[in-house]
Amino acid sequence: MENNYKLPDQNAARMRRSRNREAEQSEYSMPETLRQCGKGRTYAIRTYGCQANVRDSETIAGLLEQMSFTRAENDTEADVLVFNTCAVRRNAEEHVLGEIGNLKPLKLQHPDRIFALCGCMAQEEGIVDLLLKKYPQVDIIFGTHNLDRFPQMLAQHLQEGRRQVQVDSIEGNIIEGMPAMRSRRFKAFVNIMYGCDKFCTYCIVPYTRGRERSRRLQNIVDEIREFKASGGKEVALLGQNVNAYGKDLQMKDGFSTLLDKCADTGIDRIRFYTSHPRDYTSAAIDVMAARPNIMKALHLPVQSGSDEILRRMNRGYTRAHYLSLYDDMRSRIPDITFSTDIIVGFPGETDAQFEETLSLVDHCQFDQAFTFIYSPREGTPAASMKDDIPEEVKKERLEILNEKVAGYARIRNEQYVGKTVSVLCDGPSKKNERIMAGYTEDNKLVNFKAVSVKEGDIVPVKITEARSFSLNGEAEEGDVH
Ligand code: SAH
Ligand code: SF4
Ligand code: F3S
Repeated sequence: MENNYKLPDQNAARMRRSRNREAEQSEYSMPETLRQCGKGRTYAIRTYGCQANVRDSETIAGLLEQMSFTRAENDTEADVLVFNTCAVRRNAEEHVLGEIGNLKPLKLQHPDRIFALCGCMAQEEGIVDLLLKKYPQVDIIFGTHNLDRFPQMLAQHLQEGRRQVQVDSIEGNIIEGMPAMRSRRFKAFVNIMYGCDKFCTYCIVPYTRGRERSRRLQNIVDEIREFKASGGKEVALLGQNVNAYGKDLQMKDGFSTLLDKCADTGIDRIRFYTSHPRDYTSAAIDVMAARPNIMKALHLPVQSGSDEILRRMNRGYTRAHYLSLYDDMRSRIPDITFSTDIIVGFPGETDAQFEETLSLVDHCQFDQAFTFIYSPREGTPAASMKDDIPEEVKKERLEILNEKVAGYARIRNEQYVGKTVSVLCDGPSKKNERIMAGYTEDNKLVNFKAVSVKEGDIVPVKITEARSFSLNGEAEEGDVH
């Protein structure tokens, strides 16, 4: 019977062609019959992966609350426990498989507890097959395209007690108006587009998230306005390649137009993730330079400093293009900070090619870099490339790179000592209740002493000490807003 479930189809996803047409749009509304399903029951969500998943978990929480579920104090006691998963590297998956493996005894003790798995792992053929065969404790599996169908699946499971699986590899549509329980009052993630059509050869995301499709500009601007009206101070615009925003809506230079309109809302801070070097336009740099509420911090993943590796990754740019974009931005926005993502040990990467990555880091001296060892993803082109680099060599490259990255991060941070910067307070720091934590406009984490500063305040902080990954300081209170 389990064989009747439709599995996601990565081959079909690969065959799709970028289409310049608008995605199908619809407006969500929850049927009345589902609104009381969760009365007296609790839920919890464990979220893995990127900001797209964090934002999706807010929607899942919103849907569950609309069904009258309430958040559980302790997630192992929740009546419904949702795993919103990530598939980008193997260790992310292994971690989740380990956790749901541990649920087996819990399920035997409490057969009424419901376990659901969603997110990017639910869009992988091999994983769904494995879950169906080996993890009977997982009651509901739904993919990244079916958040709106989760309430119906859950209600059906409550009624019939049967496993529910919906993981079609569709290209993806856009559903507006789903409820959301935002995790923070002052900062919000705002989706501007979904999916990815870049098909970098190592990456699973284009298969798990469907085709690149943009939300309509007005819906994005309205969401920011509403958030600001409720006291919001910072939004992060989300998309796998925000620079491709609006291509499917036939907009010319869509991303810079969008940034300009978002800046017009007057919200204090606007950030955006992630930029792709291939689609970055001069107009977008101009808007960033001109508008004070667009933060001067750019996450611009480079992945490798070698042209040959970049070509085999299908990144669509060269080392020279990346560097000229970087230099151009530095000269037009002198106080900008840069972060990046780098993969070491891509199949066939030679020592000389790795050295090219190191020399690119020497040139750019990033404020921050997220570094990864290449992880083969089943069904992607790179997974069938010859990979003859020993694991120890990959680990050694990562260590060498990390040391270099930390060195530059520290040098960049040292330039802040003695300066006063504007910090949006996130609340007490994780380690010490009396120390506040927050981020500067250019995205530096600051731990600072303060007497009466609260979460959500934007406050001047004098920097007293630099570390590799954070700054320490003291609030200059009296000038909080
Ligand atoms: N859309 C974003 C990145 C999304 S994934 C972009 O293109 O920049 C986040 C990062 O994970 C990537 O930038 C890449 O550095 C890393 N990554 C993706 N697939 C990977 C893989 N198979 N192995 C190792 N790292 C990977
Ligand atoms: Fe993955 Fe490349 Fe798309 Fe980023 S741009 S999500 S790395 S395929
Ligand atoms: Fe992971 Fe999916 Fe994000 S694979 S990084 S959760 S888009």
